[in-house]
Amino acid sequence: MDAIKKALNIGGGSGAPAAEPSAERLQELKDKYAKAGQEQVFTFYDALPTEQKAQLFEQLSGFDPARINEITDKALNPPKAEGGETVLEPLPESATASILDSQKSDIDAWYDAGLGLIGQNKVGVVLMAGGQGTRLGSSAPKGCFDIGLPSRKSLFQIQAERIRKVQELAGLKSGRKVVVPWYVMTSGPTRAPTEQYFAENKYFGLDRDNVVIFEQGVLPCVSNEGKILLESKGRVAVAPDGNGGIYQALVVSGVLDDMKRRGVEHIHAYCVDNCLVKVADPVFIGFAAAKKVDIATKVVRKRNATESVGLILQKNGRPDVVEYSEIDRATAEAQDPKQAGVLKFRAANIVNHYYSFGFLESIPRWAHRLPHHVARKKIPYADTSSASGETVKPDKPNGIKLEQFVFDVFPMLEPERFACMEVRREDEFSPLKNAAGTGEDDPDTSRRDIMAQGKRWVEAAGAQVTSEDPDAGIEVSPLISYGGEGLDKFQGKPIVAPAVLELE
Ligand code: UD1
Repeated sequence: MDAIKKALNIGGGSGAPAAEPSAERLQELKDKYAKAGQEQVFTFYDALPTEQKAQLFEQLSGFDPARINEITDKALNPPKAEGGETVLEPLPESATASILDSQKSDIDAWYDAGLGLIGQNKVGVVLMAGGQGTRLGSSAPKGCFDIGLPSRKSLFQIQAERIRKVQELAGLKSGRKVVVPWYVMTSGPTRAPTEQYFAENKYFGLDRDNVVIFEQGVLPCVSNEGKILLESKGRVAVAPDGNGGIYQALVVSGVLDDMKRRGVEHIHAYCVDNCLVKVADPVFIGFAAAKKVDIATKVVRKRNATESVGLILQKNGRPDVVEYSEIDRATAEAQDPKQAGVLKFRAANIVNHYYSFGFLESIPRWAHRLPHHVARKKIPYADTSSASGETVKPDKPNGIKLEQFVFDVFPMLEPERFACMEVRREDEFSPLKNAAGTGEDDPDTSRRDIMAQGKRWVEAAGAQVTSEDPDAGIEVSPLISYGGEGLDKFQGKPIVAPAVLELE
């Protein structure tokens, strides 16, 4: 493991509080920080109680200050692209497919192939749930959030039940016991409450041996001048290293070893905040496996030229994501020459990825090359210029969190190793980003979209839905239906919306 950590160029303490270090070891560490111009982290060290000295020493030993300086500098001054203009193009047609205009026979074939792979226990899922959900205004992990469904199910529960259902569907097809291991990536702030929530809820009916909760790394927060900040006299301010921290964490936490042991060959990775996510989607797995790619990604059609979403495209001949803030108006508004009224760049990123296991095994060769991005934040800090070292809560951004992005690996791929599948937004994407009442990507829109989907499903199955409220929907338990299938028994049945259809 140490060799891998070295290859990844990371530090990381063992987590066990060390004894107070010897004078020699302390001096060695102080010299290392002083050499990097980061000696301020020891400002209050001598006056700390023994236990806190040990903890701070342990925490500081886990970072390489010279490396922190290097990534901060690169993040603040990203290298200029070589050789002039950036050329943006939609992904080539050979690398894309759309559920909206594919032949039914193709979609059915991908579904069958994907369900077959799940049935052979070759599919695993990775959930990215290490974010702190600050925009949502809740301190609990986002996955625990109750979006107000009639069943009161949380996002974690909905996702767990989709895994149970897809295991069942694949088991019926393959005739064997099917396991889709669920690897849940948490971070310092979300790990303990996530573990507790899963345990309290008995892993939502999944076998606890097949739910692996692991933790991504953290990086120190730095001031606008690049100095590592203390959050209190005896602790460095740290933050999760972004959803791109997934790659390093998969290796360091032993998840890749676990996948190998289980024979997992195809991986679906997704974000916790999307209540419509089709976890381990057989169509997507079948599509990506048929294309034999390293990475595939799902996109939805961008609503209009001004929607604030990242775009999946080809940048200087390589697959990439360009954030909405980075493209000019003419590019955002450009029309597809082949389809009138359709945007040329319309592939909105929904952070739903397929990886081949073979590709993930190559992480140690490239993870250290992923760039870091700067997020300017209000970071509480112990003022090292005052003797008291009181923690100050700033009212405007005073520092930087360094984050890696999960999609920054895309440009490292040859275009033929990458594929993209367009899916229907109303069926697959409704993220929970904002607090209730915002009117966009909030708990109300999440609930509305799940209930509207359930209503569409039962109506398609022939149920007679009536309601005083035309907007009232129907919650269909994932244990009854994964993607609209298996609802024939409701044919001709009256259902008064709003309603919830549960297994019992
Ligand atoms: C993300 C995408 C954006 C896309 C949008 C769609 C990135 C960098 N950007 O933006 O292109 O259009 O989703 O919803 O992916 N997370 C971690 N660890 C972290 C930080 C985040 O696991 O350190 C997880 C979160 O728990 C969440 C996901 O990553 O599941 C997305 O994070 P978030 O910060 O909400 O991304 P957006 O800025 O919304």
